[in-house]
Amino acid sequence: MEKRKVIIDCDPGIDDSLALMLALSMEELQVVGITVVSGNGPVNMGFSNAKKVLKRMGRLDIPIYKGAAVPLKREYVSALDTHGVDALGESFLPEVPGYEQPVDAVEFMKKEIGRGGCSVIALGPMTNLARLANEARAVFGKMEELVSMGGNFRSHGNCSPVAEYNYWADPEAAALVYQVAAELGMKIHMVGLDVTRRIVLTPDLLEYFCRLDPKLGEFIRAITRFYFDFHWKQEHLIGCVINDPLAVAYFADRSLCDGIEAYTEIETQGISIGQSVVDSQGFYRREPNSVVLTKVNAAGFFRMFFGRLLNRSPEKLDLLERMIS
Ligand code: BDR
Ligand code: CA
Repeated sequence: MEKRKVIIDCDPGIDDSLALMLALSMEELQVVGITVVSGNGPVNMGFSNAKKVLKRMGRLDIPIYKGAAVPLKREYVSALDTHGVDALGESFLPEVPGYEQPVDAVEFMKKEIGRGGCSVIALGPMTNLARLANEARAVFGKMEELVSMGGNFRSHGNCSPVAEYNYWADPEAAALVYQVAAELGMKIHMVGLDVTRRIVLTPDLLEYFCRLDPKLGEFIRAITRFYFDFHWKQEHLIGCVINDPLAVAYFADRSLCDGIEAYTEIETQGISIGQSVVDSQGFYRREPNSVVLTKVNAAGFFRMFFGRLLNRSPEKLDLLERMIS
């Protein structure tokens, strides 16, 4: 089987960590590198969390590169209120020493994407990608596909009534990336809150996972405990929305989501700052620069998440069917 080469640009982050775990469990993907950006936590914290995840997965052979510490033009605002003071659900897992990479994230992207045949799954603010677009537009255009967890169309935001965190945290970066995609005739796959809000890890699902694989399950329990509490306090939800793994799942299996092609811009000013403005009605008469996902098969996602992470076929996950159907 030919593996698809992919860079995961992320800010781990609880759900980023679950996304990394899923990506590393997929034999059809070759994760050529992980690039980190300040987002949920500062870039150094994200770097250290990525190492913890790789260690848990036995994949410290994958290089991790540090990227932007601050947004393009504004002050950095973390999401530690959502992800805990260590950005990994206050799991306080032991640090993994060493492992510094000599080049930074954007230099790595230039080299790897420049070779061709490489996609990017972006799970954090788009600062690294915006720097790539600014410094090496031709290389940016060589990206095979860009799948971005971010934005929202019909759904409300999670940072303001209209804005989602990844685009809100660095709106100039997101705006630039969508603008350059339009100029180059690319279409960004926008895996926004419309679809990710449907991906709810419930206590029952987690418990089932732990019964099947206590070690990996307890790791997930340790990093999601804080997230469960946050969702209860914030949204009165018993469970937690795991946004980022859906972008990985969709990258590997298009049948999990459906959406519309549209021209999208990201607002950089005023009360709607960070909003993804999706021109679904064609007011601007611009060619689509995005595929905006509006529908998701949440049960299909969990089948993939459990199946891949536990390396089990559906018939060995009988209870899962009852929980998700
Ligand atoms: C996004 O923001 C972050 O907090 C999550 O990791 C996810 O990428 C959801 O809005
Ligand atoms: Ca993220």
